Amino acid sequence: MVRLFPNRLIIIAIRPEKLIEFDEIVRMADLNPDDIVLDIGCGSGQQALLLGRKCKRVVGIDLSDGGIKKAKNMARISGLSERVSYLQGNVLEADFPNGSFNKIVSFCVLEHIPEWQEVLKKAHQWLAPGGSLVISVDSLAPIKDEALINKHKEKYSVAIYFDTQTLGSSLRDAGFSRFDIHPILRSAQAKKNFIEEITTNRSDSLNLLQWISEYNRLREAENETDSKDEGIFLVARAYL
Ligand SMILES: C[S@@+](CC[C@H](N)C(=O)[O-])C[C@H]1O[C@@H](n2cnc3c(N)ncnc32)[C@H](O)[C@@H]1O
Repeated sequence: MVRLFPNRLIIIAIRPEKLIEFDEIVRMADLNPDDIVLDIGCGSGQQALLLGRKCKRVVGIDLSDGGIKKAKNMARISGLSERVSYLQGNVLEADFPNGSFNKIVSFCVLEHIPEWQEVLKKAHQWLAPGGSLVISVDSLAPIKDEALINKHKEKYSVAIYFDTQTLGSSLRDAGFSRFDIHPILRSAQAKKNFIEEITTNRSDSLNLLQWISEYNRLREAENETDSKDEGIFLVARAYL
């Protein structure tokens, strides 16, 4: 119970859509207890903390001073400070030695960095032989309304919305010869929720019961949808 409590606390701080993204990245990263993981653009650190329960060591890096302070605090409260550490800084200026990590993850960050190709090149250098990079990025392909996309772009400072081709060629340019990419949050329910989030910050006000029913609804819709081509996010796994 004591061990579960911090996880619950962390999970309800993550929006239901983001937990679907987290589940998928964890599945694709195929984490094991010896893994040393980098989380690029870790924000306030919830995902890195959850990963810390599955791996040997996790390092999160983010530009945001406030985010990193919250992250460090949460790691301390959860008793995970030894396994999960956070650095405040620009990933473009980070100088981890080559081959430092055997898994690198990033949850919806590249689209906010105009030099995203440089980030992929750095990730390629920082991976140890046999390592893999697993990332999600904004695609918004199911949303066809330009005004809504512009609103989202402005609200969240988005530099680029990715499609499979652009992401694939950027991974190839960064030196990854093997990768797979697929969309997630493909259902009509995910699209509806995302539009509401752009226009109203709907999920900020979910209580625990609403959160659970929202997560279950999204999960079921995701499992049942036939659409394989378009999703709110793309998820990519690339190997050295
Ligand atoms: C949309 S948020 C995602 C945060 C977190 N990964 C999540 O999924 O909740 C994007 C994050 O990328 C960080 N970021 C943007 N540019 C960055 C850079 N050049 N170096 C490090 N972090 C960066 C921002 O500070 C922000 O926390």
